[in-house]
Amino acid sequence: MYYLAVEGKQKLSGSVTISGAKNAALPLLALTLLSKRKIKISNIPEVADVKTLLQLLANLGATYAFVQKNVVDVDATSVNSACANYDIVRKMRASILTLGPLLARFGHCEVSLPGGCAIGQRPIDLHLKALEQMGAEIEIKQGYVLAKAPKGLKGATIVFDKVTVTGSENIIMAAALAHGTTMLVNVAKEPEVVQLCEVLRDAGVTIEGVGSSKLIIEGSGGKLLNIPDFRVIPDRIEAGTYLCAGAITKSKITLKNVNPKHLEAVILKLKQMGFEIDETEESLTIHPNEKMIACDIETSEYPGFPTDLQAQFMALCTQAKGTSLIDERLFENRFMHVSELARMGANIKLKGHTATVEGKMKLNAADVMATDLRASSALILAALVAEGTTKIHRIYHLDRGYEDLEGKFSRLGANIERLEE
Ligand code: EPZ
Repeated sequence: MYYLAVEGKQKLSGSVTISGAKNAALPLLALTLLSKRKIKISNIPEVADVKTLLQLLANLGATYAFVQKNVVDVDATSVNSACANYDIVRKMRASILTLGPLLARFGHCEVSLPGGCAIGQRPIDLHLKALEQMGAEIEIKQGYVLAKAPKGLKGATIVFDKVTVTGSENIIMAAALAHGTTMLVNVAKEPEVVQLCEVLRDAGVTIEGVGSSKLIIEGSGGKLLNIPDFRVIPDRIEAGTYLCAGAITKSKITLKNVNPKHLEAVILKLKQMGFEIDETEESLTIHPNEKMIACDIETSEYPGFPTDLQAQFMALCTQAKGTSLIDERLFENRFMHVSELARMGANIKLKGHTATVEGKMKLNAADVMATDLRASSALILAALVAEGTTKIHRIYHLDRGYEDLEGKFSRLGANIERLEE
């Protein structure tokens, strides 16, 4: 097992290139199941979750090859199995994204049920209910979702009871191959969902309402699609994490290959905390601010403040002047970083889904445990300003979603090392 040793009291400088978005890449990889051609995907982040989904596609019969760094060719035309087994799904919940495409393509599939995870129960009832409305018969047996729609899925009107990102993506992909028209109401508007719709549109699928909460999708009647090559959008959560790194270390750093439009809520929050941020179409520069002030945050669906940056902002708030209130509205258990930050000297009180963070606390290095992907990155941020060298254990969580993390931080001037326990 590896851990990260991060030296504190550091200043960063220079620039960092943001990778492709993991959460855009995963549904787009699942989408290859609906393609009648080999697809070249560029700007694909080489992170563990992406490799796991590629492995799952290979298990189903697809082939793939990295033709250069961050460019992968995926050919799913040869897929001959519709069973996503437990061994892979248990490694990554997002494997559930194969459910819609497999069912739409084969008329039946077996996909292992993802369990709960560190941040909450995370049910998939809304994915299943929507597929049933499209005519699927679904049974849960021995931990598997067994789904069939022998005559193909049918267009339907579906109103999601809650906004769900992967749920929307699953049903958008299913609807693209269904017979007839599907209307989806209360769909997620995350940039990742929008890119999925745009690629489908480029493949000739008629979709109205892209980027809004209501989509109307004309299905192909079971015919595989002519999906073109595409480039994955930049990772807004990785970008937000590096903005926080600049902010917490009071450093000037520039982010390249970002889409500032995807980060409006985050940039606004940093500005409220007193930071100056320069924007171009594809870059962001954060300037040092010696007088960072506390802020209140409530996570919500896009375009609101992302839950995937809640932990990082909590680390930041430990260094701001004043008291910050952080409300986690999406996941019931996404506060696992609180006790680890407390081990470093943070003063955070939890009540229900609200954390009260006292600012300007002196942080000290400690041995801390990564609990989920974003919680781990919050610990790195705290470690960068702590006194001494922090050891962060269980860093496999970080490898799931941050490409070349030590490389990127080292090039910004941090002293960060991956060592064996
Ligand atoms: C996606 O997860 C992301 N994962 C998560 O990123 C992100 O935190 C989350 O959206 C919210 O933005 C990927 O894109 C691969 P949801 P997802 O379905 O789709 C409830 C990261 O760190 N719900 O939008 O699984 C659910 O419990 C991660 O990169 C139901 O009740 O999240 C939650 O409270 C982790 N029933 C809320 O909806 C359902 O059937 C939103 O979850 C589905 C969801």
